[in-house]
Amino acid sequence: MKIFLDSANINDIKKFYSMGAISGVTTNPSIISRENRKFEDILNDITLIMVDGPVFAEVLALDADGMIEEGRALAKKSPNIVVKIPAIPEGLKAVKTLAAEGITVCVTVVYSATQAILAANAGASYVAPFVGRLDDIGENGLNLAADIREIFDAQGITTKIIAASVRHPVHVTELARMGVDVATMPGKVIDQMATNPNTQRAVEGFLKDWEKVPK
Ligand code: G3P
Repeated sequence: MKIFLDSANINDIKKFYSMGAISGVTTNPSIISRENRKFEDILNDITLIMVDGPVFAEVLALDADGMIEEGRALAKKSPNIVVKIPAIPEGLKAVKTLAAEGITVCVTVVYSATQAILAANAGASYVAPFVGRLDDIGENGLNLAADIREIFDAQGITTKIIAASVRHPVHVTELARMGVDVATMPGKVIDQMATNPNTQRAVEGFLKDWEKVPK
């Protein structure tokens, strides 16, 4: 399972890219708003770092024509841009048009398996179930990801599943176990995955013991 960073913070992107931890970056309007910089500048910087992986950028329009216009403009910025379109009926129209033009599209804010099926039929390259936000409303986000995996496999659908709104390492292991293609998450979750106090203690113990070795 690939790991993408759900962030527009350039320092975080550099940090996790240099660790080999991430192979893509996802953003949304809320994530962009945290950086206090112009969207174009942020996107430009991200695409300069992520030269070999997809960079996801979301449209703001809520009507199909507006989404199509924004999607085309985003796709022109760099060959690795993936256009994020929300899973609403107008969004599906935009997906059909953009996908037919060869633009890579991710249908985002997916809360049901039926939205994922429609997105795949419209031509989406990715669908993004919002795992953590389903948990937030008392449902089971992992079950939705598993349902979509099962349906796509049963139907031979090749649209990739990118689990989003991932909140903790248990989400990550369960998503990997069920075979989703990508999980996108904040840097905090990657830090949690990469750090184990027992490993730290063991390494410190080795160094302490090394002091006893005659020099
Ligand atoms: O990629 C979607 C994601 O940014 C939503 O995450 O944590 O705001 O629910 P969250």
